[in-house]
Amino acid sequence: MTHSPWRFCVAPMMQYTDRHFRYLARIMSQRARLYTEMIVCEALLRGRPERFLAHSDFEQPVALQLGGCDPKKLSTAAKLGEQAGFCEINLNLGCPSSRVKSGRFGVALMGEPQLVADCLTEMSSAVNIPITIKTRIGIAQNDSYEELFKFVEAIDGSGTKAIIVHARKAWLDGYSPRENREIPPLRHDLVHQLKHDFPHLTVVLNGGLSSKSEINHHLQHVDGVMLGRAAYKTPFLLATVDNAFFESVTNNLVDRFDIFHQYIEYARVQINAGTYPRHIAKPLHYLFRGQPGARQWRRHLSEYCTRSNAGIDSLQSALKWVERTTP
Ligand SMILES: Cc1cc2nc3c(=O)[nH]c(=O)nc-3n(C[C@H](O)[C@H](O)[C@H](O)COP(=O)(O)O)c2cc1C
Repeated sequence: MTHSPWRFCVAPMMQYTDRHFRYLARIMSQRARLYTEMIVCEALLRGRPERFLAHSDFEQPVALQLGGCDPKKLSTAAKLGEQAGFCEINLNLGCPSSRVKSGRFGVALMGEPQLVADCLTEMSSAVNIPITIKTRIGIAQNDSYEELFKFVEAIDGSGTKAIIVHARKAWLDGYSPRENREIPPLRHDLVHQLKHDFPHLTVVLNGGLSSKSEINHHLQHVDGVMLGRAAYKTPFLLATVDNAFFESVTNNLVDRFDIFHQYIEYARVQINAGTYPRHIAKPLHYLFRGQPGARQWRRHLSEYCTRSNAGIDSLQSALKWVERTTP
């Protein structure tokens, strides 16, 4: 059975979905589609783009997420992303950070569909990989389904292949970015409706998902799902993705120790190349979540991998706190 390439995605998350997290995720799932943290277009173009774009082929399929609103700059940035090997460029139309208040960034762009369409047209004519967007269901009072419909209608045809929708609106006055991920109620039904009304678009639902049963439920209505916090707070769930949602009996690892041992080989190379052990250790913090010794494991990584003399041994010695159990 052929599935949409967007069937199961891991959300872009600043400070989390860096290349190390993505490497760990790929050890666990060969099918999940991964996203970078958002990279602000101007920062990418300012110089040394490789600093932002560095990743390993092992992470594929991996998409680059950009933030920005200038069609020309975005198309140049998209080209850089394509040359660097990313399989998709995603435009962020959902970020509610303080920068948004000054307008023309992230979710504020939902109020400027023509500008978004111009950006998408420029970007898609510059590259041969899919251009996608990640948006919300609305912003402040403009949160009716009709407004969401009009927004998508306005950008449909401008080269967008897939629309990822965080099923919450954003409130810019009074809510922090974190509150904007928790307080506005989830409206998964609106995302289902969007797929119904735009059947030719790939629609991916995001927001509040974690269990296999709810994911399977949504996959009846949309082309794909995207998980954010569940993927970094319980990364081991990624080890079940290929079998659960792709009916593929792949040879991905389903034992936390085997996952750790494969990751440690990568960690060794990275640390030898000068990466800080604390950066390499970060994605591992929740690998043993729910298992005996998980808290000590986490404390060990936080304490030993942040020391000035930290090295590969600081990671390996954390294993003494956890026991091999069947998953
Ligand atoms: C720490 C953190 C950082 C995030 N950074 C980004 C980002 O860079 N780009 C983006 O589009 N969304 C970002 N998000 C939002 C997530 O991609 C996702 O839309 C949101 O967390 C809802 O999904 P979830 O309920 O599965 O976590 C971030 C979320 C978190 C928790």
